[in-house]
Amino acid sequence: MNTPHTQTLRLPSAATILFLFSLAISLVLLFAPLHAFLNMQSARWISAFSIVLSYVLFTQTVLLSHRKQHSKAATSAPQQQDDICIVYASQTGYAEELALQTDSSLRLAHCRTRLVDIDEVTPELLQQSSRILFIVSTTGEGDAPDSAARFCNQVMAHPLSLSHVHYAVLALGDSHYQSYCAFGRQLDHWLHQQGAQLLFDRVEVDDGDDGALRHWQHHLGLLSGHTELPDWHQASYQDWTLQSRELLNPGSLGNPVYKIRLLPATSNVYWQAGDIAEILPQRPDQATPLPHREYSIASIPQDCAVELIVRQMQQADGSLGLGSGWLTHYAEVGSKIALRLRSNRSFHPQNPARKLILIGNGTGIAGLRAHLKHCEQTQSTGHYLLFGERQSAHDHFCKTELEHWLQQGTLEQLDLAFSRDQDERRYVQHLLPQRAEQLRDWVTQGAAIYVCGSLSGMASGVDQALRDILGDETLEALREQGRYRRDVY
Ligand SMILES: Cc1cc2nc3c(=O)[nH]c(=O)nc-3n(C[C@H](O)[C@H](O)[C@H](O)COP(=O)(O)OP(=O)(O)OC[C@H]3O[C@@H](n4cnc5c(N)ncnc54)[C@H](O)[C@@H]3O)c2cc1C
Ligand SMILES: Cc1cc2nc3c(=O)[nH]c(=O)nc-3n(C[C@H](O)[C@H](O)[C@H](O)COP(=O)(O)O)c2cc1C
Repeated sequence: MNTPHTQTLRLPSAATILFLFSLAISLVLLFAPLHAFLNMQSARWISAFSIVLSYVLFTQTVLLSHRKQHSKAATSAPQQQDDICIVYASQTGYAEELALQTDSSLRLAHCRTRLVDIDEVTPELLQQSSRILFIVSTTGEGDAPDSAARFCNQVMAHPLSLSHVHYAVLALGDSHYQSYCAFGRQLDHWLHQQGAQLLFDRVEVDDGDDGALRHWQHHLGLLSGHTELPDWHQASYQDWTLQSRELLNPGSLGNPVYKIRLLPATSNVYWQAGDIAEILPQRPDQATPLPHREYSIASIPQDCAVELIVRQMQQADGSLGLGSGWLTHYAEVGSKIALRLRSNRSFHPQNPARKLILIGNGTGIAGLRAHLKHCEQTQSTGHYLLFGERQSAHDHFCKTELEHWLQQGTLEQLDLAFSRDQDERRYVQHLLPQRAEQLRDWVTQGAAIYVCGSLSGMASGVDQALRDILGDETLEALREQGRYRRDVY
């Protein structure tokens, strides 16, 4: 690893040698008997060119070395000239957002950085980097984000010599889950086993905890030598207008589910299918700030509104959930909702020529509906939706739209599982074995699988059914190729 110190010494001496060498050539050309054989005029041109070239090289390298010394003095960061590699693994976009903020903070402090999705990390990249910041979340039940599948299966599966690497881990998680920050901890442990050395202790962020994030920013300040770096500001919330609220499941055995339509204050808002709306709930009787809640966006920008499909949750004492209660009950139609959009790249649309196998249950229809709307808008046809709810008579969300897509060709096939329409419980994952051959065919022909809805029950049931049908290896390969994507909660 080259420290700036060694570089500053090496560069001027190289320039000096070049300068002296060119000067010598010039003198030889000017005065040596070679003139006897060369045209006098061209010899003079060569001499003049050599002098100018050596002068330019000399001044540029001296200037460069001055700049380096100056920035080193300004930041007093011992390894400032080395690229700092920022690797992120994100399931729903938060780790990616923090990686971007980390990147801008370090750049503000004149550090050279390289931002890399974990999907692109190879053993060579690790071996070529001397300082790496990992920003990784945990998803599922203690799992790595889907984008880390290849890294886990191929890179972490083999020993590597990383004793030259200095690293830190920002582990995102939520302590309500049993395997808190499991992937961040596992990654930290693996790096340690490979001989990598800590820049500072792992920072664990419990549900976006501000204190932990300030702690990380403090370390970035120390690392870059700029402790006065400005605080991070999360994208601010905008006031959106609650235009309408429509009950989707009158008479349902389950909690009420509403389609919520929200209008932006300005026309220059943009999002993609798969993105997430974060809302700041309020309580009519409370002034204290409440934590945000996340909802899959069920519409596309061409709808000129963000639509959400929200199930009203209840606490054991009967009081309504903070976010769903605010959206489905307390906020009045026509009132303002504090909302911000979050990009969720791992659930974005991809190649429109690819057929989609969309699988979901309950409010998971939200994310899948946005994809179907995107398909309709881009005239991409022939997709397959498998969806599960409780009773066909009450919980057939978006029935008219789904039938329209089926008629018009956006959907080639629609399979529904209503768990309470018959005696034995039948969920969406139970549809999959019946379609095993067709699923294998579609996947062989390049289809991608998108899953949206409940983590408990549905996501693991679907995952197991897909493993049984396609095999572990194929499913892992699909995950690595971005052809098995999930937005489950
Ligand atoms: C990426 C993402 C996308 C999401 N998309 C949607 C969506 O499109 N539609 C939607 O309705 N929700 C969605 N959610 C869930 C949503 O963010 C909230 O967790 C949900 O609305 C409950 O929050 P609350 O504040 O109303 O309830 P809270 O005040 O947090 O809790 C109220 C009660 O509900 C229970 N509860 C909370 N969450 C769940 C859960 N997931 N399953 C079972 N019980 C629970 C609690 O234990 C408690 O008893 C999504 C979550 C994530 C992370
Ligand atoms: C479906 C789901 C499963 C999660 N599972 C875990 C978990 O097992 N352990 C944990 O610590 N955090 C878990 N979390 C919390 C996330 O790690 C946390 O929200 C993080 O900020 C998400 O970052 P990301 O948007 O970059 O993926 C889970 C979150 C979701 C939505």
